[in-house]
Amino acid sequence: MTAPDSPRRSGLRGFGHAGPSPWTDLDRPPLDEAALRRDLLVPDGLWTSVDVVAETGSTNNDLAARARAGAPQGAVLVAEVQNAGRGRLERQWSAPARSGLFLSVLLRPEEVPVERYGWLPILVGVATASTLSRVAGVEVGLKWPNDLQVEIDGAERKLGGILTELSGGAVVAGLGINVSLREPELPVPTAASLALAGAEVTDRSTLLRALLREFAGLYRTWTAAAGDPHTSELLRAYADRCTTLGRQVKVHLPGDRELVGEAVAIDGDGRLVVRTPDGARRAVGAGDVVHVRPEPR
Ligand code: BTN
Repeated sequence: MTAPDSPRRSGLRGFGHAGPSPWTDLDRPPLDEAALRRDLLVPDGLWTSVDVVAETGSTNNDLAARARAGAPQGAVLVAEVQNAGRGRLERQWSAPARSGLFLSVLLRPEEVPVERYGWLPILVGVATASTLSRVAGVEVGLKWPNDLQVEIDGAERKLGGILTELSGGAVVAGLGINVSLREPELPVPTAASLALAGAEVTDRSTLLRALLREFAGLYRTWTAAAGDPHTSELLRAYADRCTTLGRQVKVHLPGDRELVGEAVAIDGDGRLVVRTPDGARRAVGAGDVVHVRPEPR
């Protein structure tokens, strides 16, 4: 998924293209662009365009280019496969064609001060975790800041992730979710898919429609509150889903530094507050978190 290249991942390269026919794997039917447009492009709705492409490099790159060219808010771009997908912290993201949902959305939250844009990846995470839990029947948590996690046989595994970027004054939010990946196809053994987690629903169109509708509702509430994480209740919704709070963590910080302690809170800027063994509280804005001890029972 987002882990650095490994021999296992390289072995999967043959999957990384659209393939001869989208119907060769009947468990992985293509998305129906016309039906998605019909259901999502509604009067006064957030979504202004929905495109499904058979293959591209990265949906984030494509929407970033459109944002620079002045595209309006509400564009949704979904790829059936990406050949240069990107993850957080300069990692790659690759997955077999139609095995998941790979999409980006273009947002221009004009009612929100720029310093609150950092809440957008959290908003995408909350909307996604809540939709998947409700529709697929699999409890999905968020490892700070926004790795989508499921538990399989008592182990936390990564189901998906979010990459948000600024471009042309807009925010491009990219989301990757593993839907039907089988165990041998996983990029790393700690990855997961909805199918492996025992989801009741793995139909990508159903999940995508529900997700984009849920996101639009939360986004409306958040922008109406000028991005305030308290009055919009985004902070509370995030804390409820965050699997990192209350855990012993090791945070790999930029510049090869490390911070160890207990994750005790999320502050008003979305940073993770860590209490170190000397009792000091340090707020972390970026980094890779490892949960070092099991959840207290
Ligand atoms: C992460 O967990 O590191 C974030 C992964 C984000 C992957 C998605 S797939 C759609 C969009 N396009 C990209 O190139 N990346 C994001």
